[in-house]
Amino acid sequence: MDEKQAVALEAAKLVQSGMVLGLGTGSTTSHFVREIGRKVRDEGLKVACVSSSFSCSVLAKEQGILLIPVDQVSRLDLYVDGADEVAPDKALIKGRGGAMVSEKLLAQACDRFIVIVDQGKLVDKLGSNFPVPVEVIPSAWLVVQKVLRALGGTPTLRQAVKKDGPVVTDHGNLILDTVFPTGVDWDTLDFAINAIPGVLDHGLFLAFRKKTQVLVGAPDGVRPFP
Ligand code: 5RP
Repeated sequence: MDEKQAVALEAAKLVQSGMVLGLGTGSTTSHFVREIGRKVRDEGLKVACVSSSFSCSVLAKEQGILLIPVDQVSRLDLYVDGADEVAPDKALIKGRGGAMVSEKLLAQACDRFIVIVDQGKLVDKLGSNFPVPVEVIPSAWLVVQKVLRALGGTPTLRQAVKKDGPVVTDHGNLILDTVFPTGVDWDTLDFAINAIPGVLDHGLFLAFRKKTQVLVGAPDGVRPFP
């Protein structure tokens, strides 16, 4: 069993019948979704799940998991998701999968946020390995790109792989992957990016540090972080 699967299975032990459960997006969380599906089928687990993305919904449906639309929910008991970077204070960068808008909504709505990562995701300083993905309405991308540069960032329009042109998100928008110097004041930047007209949201997860619990899969087992 690899580290991503091990940490996902550990998180699945926290799920109980009767919960409203948020399902994250990505390769680590896909192990979690499969395990929840197994528990539903084999152990009679009864949970109402909310998906964070189209790809998560497809997997959840394949697994026979009951999904409720996100617009029908204002509170989750538990939300389990991965991350691209985890700083020592539990600030996160998310959104490699392009799902950060719905992911942040679920992080806001949940009572308890469990972040499951392998140890390669732990960083001393945010921005060490990943850009901050900024979701913009299509008509705004050039204006937002200019403002992000003025804020000290280096934005790149995320390109699709099996399609010409840019990635289009589940919400019909574009993504500017923006590299910032690691020494930047992230809390100031969080507000500054959200204040740009045309920005829907971005992948800095700073507001949830208190309710975030991080589980790390490592070669010697799963441990809490820090
Ligand atoms: C998707 C995300 C993912 O949670 C993040 O990219 C981690 O993915 P993986 O588990 O595949 O490394 O934020 O938008």
